[in-house]
Amino acid sequence: MVNGWPDPHQLWDGVAARLADRFRIVRYDNRGVGKSSVPKQISSYSVAGLADDLGAVIAAVDPDGPVHLLGHGWGSVAVWDYLTRPGSNARVASFTSVSPVDRLLRMRHRCPLRIHRALAKSVPGPGRRVDVPVQLIVAANDPSVRRRGFDDLRRRVPRLWRRDIRAGEQSPTSHPQVVAAAVGELADFLDGRPPARSLLRSQVGRERPDFGDTLVSVTGAGSGIGRATALAFARAGAELVVSDIDEVTVAETAAQIVESGGVAHPYVLDVSDAAAVERFAVEVCATHGVPDIVVNNAGIGQAGEFLTTPADQWDRVLDINFGGVVNGCRAFGKRLVERGTGGHIVNVASMASYAPSKSLNAYCTSKAAVYMFSDCLRAELDSAGVGLTTICPGVIDTNIVAATRFDLLGRTDESLQRRREQLQRLFRYRRYGPDKVAKAILAAVKTNKATRPVAPEAYLLYGTSRIAPQVLRSTARWDLV
Ligand code: NAI
Repeated sequence: MVNGWPDPHQLWDGVAARLADRFRIVRYDNRGVGKSSVPKQISSYSVAGLADDLGAVIAAVDPDGPVHLLGHGWGSVAVWDYLTRPGSNARVASFTSVSPVDRLLRMRHRCPLRIHRALAKSVPGPGRRVDVPVQLIVAANDPSVRRRGFDDLRRRVPRLWRRDIRAGEQSPTSHPQVVAAAVGELADFLDGRPPARSLLRSQVGRERPDFGDTLVSVTGAGSGIGRATALAFARAGAELVVSDIDEVTVAETAAQIVESGGVAHPYVLDVSDAAAVERFAVEVCATHGVPDIVVNNAGIGQAGEFLTTPADQWDRVLDINFGGVVNGCRAFGKRLVERGTGGHIVNVASMASYAPSKSLNAYCTSKAAVYMFSDCLRAELDSAGVGLTTICPGVIDTNIVAATRFDLLGRTDESLQRRREQLQRLFRYRRYGPDKVAKAILAAVKTNKATRPVAPEAYLLYGTSRIAPQVLRSTARWDLV
């Protein structure tokens, strides 16, 4: 582990702790730091000098085989220099560069300290080809990182991986789990094990469909929007974890994905059961990895005014439509943040989130809660590089009306059945299928959109709710069911 100047070797404490079981770890202080000697002459501080020190350390510890190198800051520049020296590649199994060399090149003319300036002046040119497998960990919040600076690196480094993370300059201390996982995954692969999904995703130059090398979890995937979304992600190359309260329909979704050449793992899950969702997250993450994209879609319809809806039914709608989203975000949100490499959450709300109706009290309330919850959570997750999209579909032809419970006073079973059939016809004649919502979800994830109404009526009501909310307060009095 080669730290930058003037960082002490303790920079790697968190990374070393995570790798100690598996690797023999060697760290040292650079010249002028810690217990190492302190040359007086500024000219002693050069990249070539640091690379000499690295060569001397490798020779002194006399490793049995090639070493996996980690470099940060000037340490990373020194490793690059070392790798361009004859014979060095044979001694190195891999190089993980945690600080972009480009940043340091840019500092060449504006380093404030004398030693930094001396080091910057001594940065060698690009040098010859490096055959060692190299992975870059690029910190997006490091103000001096020019992220495009690596675009032509592949010509010189044919075996190249790159991970962009939402971190600052001191990523070995702020994101030790990311650095350690990256080293472990690359070492596993070089040892002949199948590559981890995240390693494949970071491989530079690998051809992949839009969501290739990505794990996606979709709840309520046995029907309608959930099923269409799972199928669309699978067509775009993703591996799917599909769950639903209905074992039969979710198995059908998984079978459809597999039949068309995809990979899907079906699970039975009631999203309103917080403990079950946590158990599900533990199992999914242990078996398949942390899902990169989490779609909290499961939901139910319910029609009725507040005073005609029994309290337990009102609570049930909130428990599934809102509680289900909360449970999903808690279980997977924390794991995405802990993983440290970003991801995306999609919460399926509805145009009902911003369009009140006296006839859909519990449903509108649950969806408005999803909307506000998502706005708050998006702001919280942003610093971890986890995006969040709220989807607000309009009238979509799915099973939702068939599954909707009606809590209306004074209606006979026949009249309720007639009303249900009328609504089903309306949804069918609307001719707006769940595949269009799925398409919108994939596009919104790709562009990290915050909210996405789907269907013209959803846009219309969205605009009205912003410009003339009193109009919607008036129409809320209409009998919709
Ligand atoms: P759907 O009824 O076709 O599918 C919903 C799926 O969720 C079903 O497979 C059902 O078994 C599952 N589910 C129900 N309760 C569950 C629970 N407790 N745990 C796990 N799974 C459960 O309905 P649709 O239309 O596909 O609904 C999906 C989401 O889209 C819902 O959140 C709904 O509120 C929302 N939405 C639907 C609109 C529409 O017009 N269809 C409009 C706006 C939003």
